[in-house]
Amino acid sequence: MTARVLAPWWRDAVGYQIYLPSFADADGDGWGDLAGVTARLDHLTDLGVDVLWLTPFFVSPMVDHGYDVADYRTVDPLFGGDEALQELLAQAHARGLRVIGDLVVNHTSDQHPWFRASASSRDDPYRDYYIWRDPAPSGGPPNNWVSQFGGSAWAFDERTGQYYLHLFRPEQPDLNWRNPAVADEVDALLAFWAGRGLDGFRIDTAAYLLKHPDLPDNPLLPDGTLLPVGGATLDFRRQDHRYDIHQPDVHAIHERWRQVADRHHLFLIGEVYELDPGPLAEFVSAERLHSTFWFGLVDVPWDAKNIAALLTAAAGASPGFSWAQGNHDRSRAATRYGRSPGGVDLLAGRRRSLALHTLMSVLPGVMWLYQGEELGLGDGVVPAELAADPLAAVQPDQGRDRARTPMPWSPGKGWGFTDGRPWLSEGGRHPSDTAAVQLDEPGSHLNAIRRLLHTRRWIAAGAPFDTDVVVLDDGARALCRGRIRVLANLDDTTTDPIDLPAPAVYDTDDPRVSPQQPRTGTVRLAPQQALILVTGL
Ligand code: GLC
Repeated sequence: MTARVLAPWWRDAVGYQIYLPSFADADGDGWGDLAGVTARLDHLTDLGVDVLWLTPFFVSPMVDHGYDVADYRTVDPLFGGDEALQELLAQAHARGLRVIGDLVVNHTSDQHPWFRASASSRDDPYRDYYIWRDPAPSGGPPNNWVSQFGGSAWAFDERTGQYYLHLFRPEQPDLNWRNPAVADEVDALLAFWAGRGLDGFRIDTAAYLLKHPDLPDNPLLPDGTLLPVGGATLDFRRQDHRYDIHQPDVHAIHERWRQVADRHHLFLIGEVYELDPGPLAEFVSAERLHSTFWFGLVDVPWDAKNIAALLTAAAGASPGFSWAQGNHDRSRAATRYGRSPGGVDLLAGRRRSLALHTLMSVLPGVMWLYQGEELGLGDGVVPAELAADPLAAVQPDQGRDRARTPMPWSPGKGWGFTDGRPWLSEGGRHPSDTAAVQLDEPGSHLNAIRRLLHTRRWIAAGAPFDTDVVVLDDGARALCRGRIRVLANLDDTTTDPIDLPAPAVYDTDDPRVSPQQPRTGTVRLAPQQALILVTGL
């Protein structure tokens, strides 16, 4: 019990990812901005979240919508500049919310002064900040690596006669993490942003950074096999990425950052697409990252057995995982989980997503919502000719715009997102998708999520998260953590009657159930209905 009293703020917290360009536009230019976030803080506190992750707000040419940084120390005027960030931090902190940024340091923008200098001459002091190589002896790129966003991972620079490496767009050159000067720069950045009041960072592509020093060719996966993660071209998914990403020595970089983070009270959470919970758990420790996302559920379609098996495997692997169903890079959970050969049943997808959120809400670690998941949003519709995502241009089936269409706040022109013309299509939303309409309906998805997060907070306030040990029965369908138990019917048929072994304080399907008005007796769980029970109430 004492350990819990002293537990750091991020243990068992609820996080919310804000995709900044599409959350809320305060100045009417059609782009989401920081003042827009500030104006919507009540939505987030009422929801019951503890920490916000803002996607990159640094100066950027926006080739990859902020994931191409040209100045790490300045907030892009498109998002409102430095003052808007300071105002957001002040307002968020006053409400007890933490705010983390997005550290994108596998690569910079090609407009970053480091790269401009690096590309100016082979002798420039910044040359070694990036990865430059001569053409292969027979001509052409130095090896067979491919970019996640299409084509070779090498771009030829006429001026200096060498290739530079870019695992994403050519406008996103990879930094050379084997150069100690690069590591020093990033240490200083962490300290800089801690001084500005950020509470931590989500670390973009946290397991990329280092490449094998000899840059050998990647082997191809056996014929017909694809990497089990999306968000990339088929060519990328056909390679066994043994040498370009996920090098074992990347942990040393995280260990270095952790020392800086501990000095400045920063929380570090990694974006690591390692789906196997065992190796993923190695990223999280008192010396490495505080947490890392486990992405086992962001690429998969709905299959109750498989989902239960995946969650079972991950649930006990680490007390520090971050649980997510989606993000700005993947098809939204409600669409993915509602898809069947006959089309998309969004209602079913929403119910499945909510049942999973109920299970996730009691797992040790951090539970994350991606903006709009609280509304049960499905994918937005973006006509191909209006696509904005660089990946969509080369691999349309992996296009990311569908997860990035503007938040529908209220019915009417601009959906309460903007008074201007949104930078990306509105997505084909319906008034019932909006936060305003759902707020007034006790049975809405928004209210189900609000009740869930408030119940969770009520549980945590009574300190029953007294163990990180999770016991699962029947796949993940019955999950126990100390005094808390979740019963979730992941199947598409109603269960036999179940005698509740303890009072239920949350019921996905019945807004009347609460800690003050628990449910007891016998229940038959409808498809995807889930309950949270607490013993010793
Ligand atoms: C991460 C981001 C993605 C971005 C990529 C390159 O995967 O989530 O949006 O395009 O890194 O920075």
